[in-house]
Amino acid sequence: MNDSVIDTRGLRKRYGAKVAVEDLTLSVRLGEVFGFLGPNGAGKTTSVKMLLGLAAPTAGSATVLGKPIGDRASRARIGFLPEHFRFHEWLTGREFLRLHGRLHGMPGRLLDERIPALLRRVDLEDAADRRVHGYSKGMIQRIGIAQALINAPELVLLDEPTSGLDPIGRLLVRDIIAELKSLGTTVFLNSHLLSEVEVTCDRVAFVKRGRVLREMSLQAADDAVEVEIRLDSHSEEIVRGLGGFGRGVAVDGDLIRMTVASEDAVPEIASWLVGRGARIYRLASGRKSLEQLFLEIIGEDERAG
Ligand SMILES: Nc1ncnc2c1ncn2[C@@H]1O[C@H](COP(=O)(O)OP(=O)(O)OP(=O)(O)O)[C@@H](O)[C@H]1O
Ligand SMILES: [Mg+2]
Repeated sequence: MNDSVIDTRGLRKRYGAKVAVEDLTLSVRLGEVFGFLGPNGAGKTTSVKMLLGLAAPTAGSATVLGKPIGDRASRARIGFLPEHFRFHEWLTGREFLRLHGRLHGMPGRLLDERIPALLRRVDLEDAADRRVHGYSKGMIQRIGIAQALINAPELVLLDEPTSGLDPIGRLLVRDIIAELKSLGTTVFLNSHLLSEVEVTCDRVAFVKRGRVLREMSLQAADDAVEVEIRLDSHSEEIVRGLGGFGRGVAVDGDLIRMTVASEDAVPEIASWLVGRGARIYRLASGRKSLEQLFLEIIGEDERAG
């Protein structure tokens, strides 16, 4: 069974001479929170627009919720927070949500229930009857998130949902994403806030120039455990031998640093060192931060290109 909610093959978008998305191939599984990460201009927003049928691909193909992109019926099952969210400012928050509910073809009675609940959820109850025009940046962002959820979507595409939000607002978004996940909703997230991504996403793809450079699961981040070792003394033989447990073994003063594929390698390294007669003063392991990985992956590509 195919459980992917988004599937793209060689998706490409060119604006005149400018290639915004080069060759995007990825799939997003049902119920996962997927982070789409990349530097400015990597083609993230353009990719989201293509998935929604708002920008026509120059080449390639994709399905969303099992239908070719742009399918009207599946669009009604998708929620979307655009990147620069600012429109219908003459409406009040409540009217604005109603308009979007109506655009999705939702009946009035359902909206009467759903709108107050959503306003409460994004902490805008008190501002519900004020015009969006007078909202602060963070309030606009939050009403935008409520708008993205009005139709109880099965798939939500959020283009930088925490942009402009204070730490409390960011926490609110984090909680909302966790709730969506517990409801089985699939979330596709564009974000530059990697510390947020780290705690919210199940899987991420690093993109650059509209190409996926690396995809990885965040639960079991392969190749992402850093090990730091300090011994009474280390011989060349020990340094060479450590290479058998992972990669990137490097000596830095009295420390040896390396990368292993999983934490399971750590006790193995310890017993191997003890077996070699080494006295261990420090053996520490930890995950690489997403930020570190981002710099490495995007940076490596820079050198390659
Ligand atoms: N309508 C357009 N016309 C011409 N060029 C465009 C258009 N939209 C995007 N681009 C170009 O395509 C590239 C990708 O833009 P896009 O907005 O998709 O990047 P992004 O990854 O979302 O960046 P950011 O992180 O800054 O939001 C950029 O070089 C941009 O200038
Ligand atoms: Mg963007």
